Amino acid sequence: MTSYRPPEGRPTSPHLPFGDRRDAPWYGQSIISVRQFQPADLDYVFGVAHEMREMVGRVGTFDLLKGKLLANLFYEPSTRTASSFMAAMQRLGGTVIPINEVRYSSVSKGESLPDTIRTLECYADCIVLRHPQMGAAAEAAAVARKPIINAGDGVGEHPTQALLDLFTIAIELGRYSPRTGLDLSGLTITLLGDLKYGRTVHSLSRLLAPMDVRLNFVSPPTLRMPEHLMTELATGTARTTELDALDPVLADSDVLYVTRVQKERFEDVALYESLKHAFVIDRQTLTRARDTMIVMHPFPRVGEIAYDVDPDPRAAYFRQMENGMYVRMALLAMVLGKA
Ligand code: NCD
Repeated sequence: MTSYRPPEGRPTSPHLPFGDRRDAPWYGQSIISVRQFQPADLDYVFGVAHEMREMVGRVGTFDLLKGKLLANLFYEPSTRTASSFMAAMQRLGGTVIPINEVRYSSVSKGESLPDTIRTLECYADCIVLRHPQMGAAAEAAAVARKPIINAGDGVGEHPTQALLDLFTIAIELGRYSPRTGLDLSGLTITLLGDLKYGRTVHSLSRLLAPMDVRLNFVSPPTLRMPEHLMTELATGTARTTELDALDPVLADSDVLYVTRVQKERFEDVALYESLKHAFVIDRQTLTRARDTMIVMHPFPRVGEIAYDVDPDPRAAYFRQMENGMYVRMALLAMVLGKA
């Protein structure tokens, strides 16, 4: 696996802003794919995220990124990713240019992605990008002088979500501490729903592939994991199984990761309608699961998890959201040279 490196020969500033650490491992790097993260990097990210959580608990907001500016460029809808990046930046004393409604920006006049990126980096120190096209974040990083953080590129990847998902699994199941590091060995993780189009599942399964875990992929037959991704995962140590029913694996699962059927990726509305409630998790389902199992979901949910699951302590999805802010604080501090 190779780490993402910015293209050779791109112009970089010889003047480091005051206080930036050029030796910080992620300084100036874009975050495009989870393939950039080796197991040792995960310990590092989680260590910083852990510190962020402590600091927020103790003081709420602090000045680590004071004077830094983030551009939040979203070509697709978002609630959690956009607002948690904004909260993360503001908790660290930085500020944000939010561009959520690209139809009110020059994008609606036909401006290209590279031009929009090269514009925003004139003003901001880092750009968070969500785009409907797979590969858009890599395309942006290829022209940018500042770090690009992929907040979802079509059906491609969603690396920051996968990092916060992994952090949540580790924290919830007692598999991470700053002293001992991360160890998920022996866990069974069941990923359920739209595995074909769900970019969060694509990134999370890539992160888990080199670990000693079992991955169950449960979906309707038409929404299975992409074949190329299954081939890629087969090069790792994780044992994988594909199924079209949850029951055979539910009782043995430590994590049930539920996803929404991705309506916006379907050309055939009738097909979406026939699949959207293929799996529904409710209180009854959980009676067949372990007491220690956690239920996760990247959200939004649109019927796959009934509201009657929410009071169950195993429902981890709101805690998962909170973790998102700590992990994104860590990533921002890292790429901006303060961690
Ligand atoms: C996910 C996404 O955008 O891929 N949402 C998120 O970022 N938390 C999942 C989804 O939209 O279903």
